[in-house]
Amino acid sequence: MNVATESAQKSGGLAGVVAGETAISTVGKGGVGLNYRGYAINDLAEHATFEEVAHLLLYGNLPNRNQLETYRKRLVARRGLSDALRAVLEQIPANAHPMDVLRTGCSLLGTLEPENTELDQHAVADRLIAVFPSMLLYWYHFSQNGKRIEVDATDETVAGHFLTLLHGKPSNAVNQRAMDVTLITYAEHEFNASTFAARVTTSTKSDFYSAITSAIGTLRGPLHGGANEAAMELIDQTVTVQAADDGLREMLAEKKLIMGFGHRFYKISDPRSDIVKAWARRLCDAGNNILQFEIAERIENIMWQEKRLFPNLDFYSALVYRMLAIPNSLFTPIFVVARTSGWGAHVFEQRANNRIIRPTADYIGPMTRPFLTLEQR
Ligand code: COA
Repeated sequence: MNVATESAQKSGGLAGVVAGETAISTVGKGGVGLNYRGYAINDLAEHATFEEVAHLLLYGNLPNRNQLETYRKRLVARRGLSDALRAVLEQIPANAHPMDVLRTGCSLLGTLEPENTELDQHAVADRLIAVFPSMLLYWYHFSQNGKRIEVDATDETVAGHFLTLLHGKPSNAVNQRAMDVTLITYAEHEFNASTFAARVTTSTKSDFYSAITSAIGTLRGPLHGGANEAAMELIDQTVTVQAADDGLREMLAEKKLIMGFGHRFYKISDPRSDIVKAWARRLCDAGNNILQFEIAERIENIMWQEKRLFPNLDFYSALVYRMLAIPNSLFTPIFVVARTSGWGAHVFEQRANNRIIRPTADYIGPMTRPFLTLEQR
């Protein structure tokens, strides 16, 4: 189709613009719902593990028992950090944002283990999912207390590996499963901003690492992935339910944006929120922290009453991570670990049917004018 015959559609933030086709997931069709390759998110969060979901997204099918075993072993085998990678991670300042550590680590890995015929796109995707927790937590422990941790923990799962590296010992089965469920819910979400960034980069025929590096930079902002950290700060701001009530009403009166609420597509609720909310309740109950759950729920109720806005995934996942004793600054990086499976699937899909993504803009600058020499200005 040439430019003259394509319809020019203008939309702030590309809202409502269909920017391509995907077979990977549906988001908010009819205001509700989320499916990964046709499977409902509720079923996946109830019955699958993150490794099954990553296999579904990246390889197109839910693995059978043997495939799952092989896939888990492959991920376990790809967790290691080379000396070159460790050396650079040790140079990153302690006050760097952990998202910047992953962005830098991803970019560096692209120079150390470039994508080529031996390391094809699937191998790079698996490597990144496996190595991101190692990178992040190696840097975290080294920068916080000078400790050089071993990253080759024997946990079978990505969730277990992450928690073991963070806490220095394996977590119980309930905590591992809670973490696993958040990874499932964070894994994929159609043409969200970071995935779109990955697809734009891919569309120029760039390499896999560049696409993921673009995506990490895009996810970092508080209107996207960074919202979970900001949501926890909001919940932490108050120590009683009444104070939360008063504080939130004040923020709304000041027209402040409340992090962890609202969504471009979902109009009734975010189906992922109910899943992680149930886990937040369970962990808060077990961990004697029902007060923070009640504060969060009051915030949710007021947001609905006052603004008809509902929590998105980031709101209650923040509370789940708090109950897993994960520092706030690591919340968004966990999103990276999970979403690399979705980003990877989109890179493959874009490559399989590529056209450079290059929209156009309405020009609102000055009309053509004569050039002024230095003396004339
Ligand atoms: N708190 C307060 N008001 C909000 C809000 C929030 N979290 N989210 C949306 N609104 C309001 C907007 O101010 C706007 O009001 P207006 O019409 O009076 O200007 C209206 O709801 C529509 O929102 P809009 O910003 O047009 O939606 P969007 O589709 O452009 O943005 C988000 C969607 C997710 C970026 C937006 O809801 C937001 O910034 N949420 C907070 C950040 C967040 O949780 N991000 C994670 C997303 S998963």
